Amino acid sequence: MSELARALDPATREALAQRIRFYRDLGLTEFYRRPVEASLIEAEAASSSEAQQVADECDQAESVSAPSQPESAEHQIHAEDETISTRKSFPQPPQIGAAVAPGERAAALQLIRDDIGDCVRCALHKGRNKIVFADGSPAARLMFVGEGPGADEDAQGLPFVGRAGQLLNNMISAMGLKRGEVYIANVVKCRPPGNRTPEPEEANICSQFLFRQIDVVRPQVLVALGATAATYLLGARQPLAGLRGRVHSVRGCQLIVTYHPAYLLRDPRQKKEAWADLQIAMAELGLKAPARA
Ligand code: URA
Repeated sequence: MSELARALDPATREALAQRIRFYRDLGLTEFYRRPVEASLIEAEAASSSEAQQVADECDQAESVSAPSQPESAEHQIHAEDETISTRKSFPQPPQIGAAVAPGERAAALQLIRDDIGDCVRCALHKGRNKIVFADGSPAARLMFVGEGPGADEDAQGLPFVGRAGQLLNNMISAMGLKRGEVYIANVVKCRPPGNRTPEPEEANICSQFLFRQIDVVRPQVLVALGATAATYLLGARQPLAGLRGRVHSVRGCQLIVTYHPAYLLRDPRQKKEAWADLQIAMAELGLKAPARA
């Protein structure tokens, strides 16, 4: 965590994190912050004016990165400022060679779960209640990948069982499928504190298990729910807006990128867009939406 972030009180930090997650779900991944002298940070750590400064900077990011602006504008403004790259690469292990027979997939997945064990490989283990491995069919043709467990998932040990999970269930039904027919997993298997975005180190460590799960299930179609899933599945951080609406290829699977259900709960107007993404997945799977009653 940066010095600047440490200087903020937890409520402000969480509010800013939520706001940044909101932008990230929109596909806006570049934020700018002016370099701040260390002495200034120390002097202001005791006061809340620092929080206001960062909030203002987020407002600036909002105004320079509004979706209606041409994308190139994002890259030009504040050229002298610190920029978080949108093209950062993340490592992926090689795909395992032989396909696991459908009848052996449950056992193969259990081996991965056993390998995870009572994991302490990254700091996320400190705050978790339950490891959230996955849910659904080991022989699924369609797999959804989310970011990481929230409070409900952490309590139950299952992915997408809270409000976002309810919406995901509705999306699955709208596709004419049952939840038990698809496979659902996350980039990280332990709940990040305060539902923050997993740090690259945490996601890189944990996604090795996700890749192994994908290699065992070998779904025809993967759906990345939100920017974090898309980033680690594709191995590069790119704006969500540029990834939606087309079919990518990942580990022998077709990958469709769409909004995270939690984002759709915050902005239901985007559900139509998400449905368009799911229809791409359905076309690849040869599925027709069930007739409405
Ligand atoms: N959000 C996620 O990304 N994953 C879950 O399992 C629940 C909420």
